[in-house]
Amino acid sequence: MKIAIGNDHAAVELKNEIKAYLEEKGHEVVNFGTDTHDSCNYAEYGEKVADAVAAHEVDCGVLICGTGVGISLAANKVPGIRAAVCSEPVTAKLVKQHNNANIICFGARIVGGEVAKAIVDAYLETEFEGGRHEQRIAYIHDIEKKHGAH
Ligand code: RB5
Repeated sequence: MKIAIGNDHAAVELKNEIKAYLEEKGHEVVNFGTDTHDSCNYAEYGEKVADAVAAHEVDCGVLICGTGVGISLAANKVPGIRAAVCSEPVTAKLVKQHNNANIICFGARIVGGEVAKAIVDAYLETEFEGGRHEQRIAYIHDIEKKHGAH
């Protein structure tokens, strides 16, 4: 798969660890940064990855900040994005199965490398179930339209 990855200054090491892990598994990883510890705005990197996912330049995205929350909030402002914060693999599996999340997020101050790897594995190895979940997701994107997004 082609996977976009992005992070803020709180998550440079974990990003590098997850990027290497995904590449070892044969995925192509597009790194949107940041790659320094200089304080930055997580929203900028959330937006970059979300734009790539929404434009179908990649199959899905991984976003990491301190908690996973700020960067997910930013990504979810891009129409078509369903970015889900997960701190363990059960949620990661369900956000693909039920919500068809197209970006998975987690926090470098919350999970360690092994849990983060289990999260991305659970997410990537699970298929969207479709069926009754389709109309619920469609409703979410209708909300975007109702509130002025395209
Ligand atoms: C940065 O200090 C921190 O606020 C950020 O990484 C993230 O946790 C925000 O949600």
